[in-house]
Amino acid sequence: MTTRPPQPAVPEFSYRDGALQAEGLPLELIAERVGTPFFLYSASAMEAAYRRFTKALEGLRAEVFFAMKANSNQAVIQTFAALGAGADVVSEGELRRALAAGIPGEKIVFAGVGKTAREMTLGLEAGILQFNVESWPELERLDAVARSLGLVAPVAIRVNPNVDAKTHTKIATGRRADKFGIDLDHARSFYAEAMKLEGIRLEGLAVHIGSQLTEVTPFREAFTRLAAFYRELQGAGVPLTRLDLGGGLGVGYRGEQPDLEAYAAIVREATEGLEAELAFEPGRYLVAAAGLLVTRVVYVKEERGRRFLIVDGAMNDLIRPTLYEAYHEILSVKEPQADWVYGEADLVGPVCESGDYFARDRLLPPAEAGDLLALSHAGAYGAVMSSTYNSRPLVPEVMVKEGEMAVVRGRQDYATMIAQDSLPDWLSKPDQ
Ligand code: LLP
Repeated sequence: MTTRPPQPAVPEFSYRDGALQAEGLPLELIAERVGTPFFLYSASAMEAAYRRFTKALEGLRAEVFFAMKANSNQAVIQTFAALGAGADVVSEGELRRALAAGIPGEKIVFAGVGKTAREMTLGLEAGILQFNVESWPELERLDAVARSLGLVAPVAIRVNPNVDAKTHTKIATGRRADKFGIDLDHARSFYAEAMKLEGIRLEGLAVHIGSQLTEVTPFREAFTRLAAFYRELQGAGVPLTRLDLGGGLGVGYRGEQPDLEAYAAIVREATEGLEAELAFEPGRYLVAAAGLLVTRVVYVKEERGRRFLIVDGAMNDLIRPTLYEAYHEILSVKEPQADWVYGEADLVGPVCESGDYFARDRLLPPAEAGDLLALSHAGAYGAVMSSTYNSRPLVPEVMVKEGEMAVVRGRQDYATMIAQDSLPDWLSKPDQ
């Protein structure tokens, strides 16, 4: 390998005494305690990302709502809540998790295209700050639910600015053909009609054009269009107070640095002189680099001129590589040595699908069975997207901070997994 071997993405993960450690704890030690595979989070790296994000927005009237879909572990939510963050939720489950973590209703925004009446009721009863509404039928339903409870629902309408975020097609959300938001042209009459609903209080305008944006130009286009529309609505007498700019800032999966400064500059430029509180819903930026998926090599298989490193982690634990062709850097837990020869190999799991891979045709370290590897940037959309496919139990999540470690979700045990099924009468009847 002519280039430098992959390096950890944050200073909290680094090589010391020949091995990868996290905030002072060797990964091998954690693996011995909890078994593999497992997700490992650095609380300090999460805090540092949050502080960088809020610092970049200093001077703006900005509020940050952590997009819990990226990582909804209670310990993660509370780490951000302790720093003053609110939560962006998209389901009853996320709303309940946010409330359980002690986030007050007034620091919660509820997004998503398909909120049910039950979810609306729960949000209204919790006194949440804002419902981001994406269609007329949804607004009518919210109006009815709010009136039936004798309440008024605070609403931001999510617009679709028709901007291509230039990200993976499955996570671009601001193009005309995507299911999200109201068309800008349609939004004018939408607001006029919405003003007539007694159960609705229009407070804001929201946008989210996609996730993992590595170019900031689409943000400029979207934010500029949105700010202009916000001014127009205010001019027309809609008493708006909040502009929600969504999430989407990308991270450097291949070692590049996310352009937070350029993002913040675009926000300032687009919202200059605007009478509005700004809301942000970052998910990935706050947690991706602060997490690893740690997995052990089970076998090294050489066949048909190919080399496969077969590990105990799989697509059910981290689905991003196969779902989005996402790239996650693979770190050797033993510190790479100058004389190591990196060879092309596939990093695969034990699940019975050819799609079960973490990397293909990648230059990988000379690992042997028993070695630990760590997949970088697994803190966002990792554990939350995992499943028990192939009856593989959900894996533990471990959080470290300054030399301490805590299992923040234990490994699911087999008995619990099986006990969740129940039998129909015709199978469970005792033998006659
Ligand atoms: N706000 C809204 C309305 C969203 O839909 C999303 C993400 C966010 C905020 C947070 O975006 P972030 O800052 O994390 O980019 N599973 C995919 C990502 C899906 C993102 C969906 N929406 C992945 O693994 O790449």
